Amino acid sequence: MDLDLKGKKAIVTGGTRGIGRAVAESLAREGVNIAVCARTESGVVETVNALRALGVQAFGTALDVRDRDAFTKWHESACTELGGIDIAISNVSTRPTLSGEDGWREAFETDFLQHVRFAELSLPILARGKDTSLLFVSSIAATLMILPPGESAYGTMKAALISYMGQLAAKHGSSGVRVNAVSPGPIFFEGGVWDQIRKHQPDLFNRAAQMSALGRHGRPEEVADAITFLASPRAGFITGANLRIDGAMVKTVNH
Ligand SMILES: NC(=O)c1ccc[n+]([C@@H]2O[C@H](COP(=O)([O-])OP(=O)(O)OC[C@H]3O[C@@H](n4cnc5c(N)ncnc54)[C@H](OP(=O)(O)O)[C@@H]3O)[C@@H](O)[C@H]2O)c1
Repeated sequence: MDLDLKGKKAIVTGGTRGIGRAVAESLAREGVNIAVCARTESGVVETVNALRALGVQAFGTALDVRDRDAFTKWHESACTELGGIDIAISNVSTRPTLSGEDGWREAFETDFLQHVRFAELSLPILARGKDTSLLFVSSIAATLMILPPGESAYGTMKAALISYMGQLAAKHGSSGVRVNAVSPGPIFFEGGVWDQIRKHQPDLFNRAAQMSALGRHGRPEEVADAITFLASPRAGFITGANLRIDGAMVKTVNH
């Protein structure tokens, strides 16, 4: 299937590692020009070089998405460098460092407000294009009633993100912008959160694999390829959808 993505322009937050990196590479393999951001300069430089090696234009900036001014500036410059935006992928999540009420406020900033900021910057630009879409990376933590200690606020913000996604889909459909989300289950990659869990909580690591109908963790590419499809004109009638990509870890029929 030709995804009809060649020459399109995508902006991806947190595109240097894990799911975000796999999305950037998956889109680049389809001929999409890409702008990424992440905090670590070396990761940004390495990613941009790897994307360029796939034959597309690539740009990157090191910044923290919680820094509103730097984030806004990056979004503007990415749009200029790319010559517009057709695909906007809001992928970043930042591990909380605080506890109690401060932790909830931090989670709101890191796992919700920066996605709103990204959407508000992206939607007017997407509305000017054709076959454009915005996609949020949520999590099955949005629907789980039992979460690992410390992930209560994370799950709550991921649920809010899905609600926000639906509202945006209804509001912006008439402008031709599709808005979707994906909710991955446990995704393993070296240096990622499940790699840490494998090293320090092997029981939890194995339990998570067994809970999936497929008996294993997912891979970033398995999430990225679904995102690439959802971002493509081939998914032209899909909007307001939250696609679980969890190997059927969550045992409910996904109506
Ligand atoms: N991995 C999983 O099992 C899993 C499961 C469900 C959902 N998810 C969701 O998938 C998304 C990606 O997670 P991941 O596990 O693939 O990767 P990750 O290890 O969380 O890293 C994501 C990327 O975001 C960047 N980043 C993190 N905090 C940032 C900040 N404050 N400002 C700018 N960039 C930042 C990282 O680079 P720097 O560190 O250099 O900034 C990296 O490029 C998240 O929304 C996460 O909640 C992941």
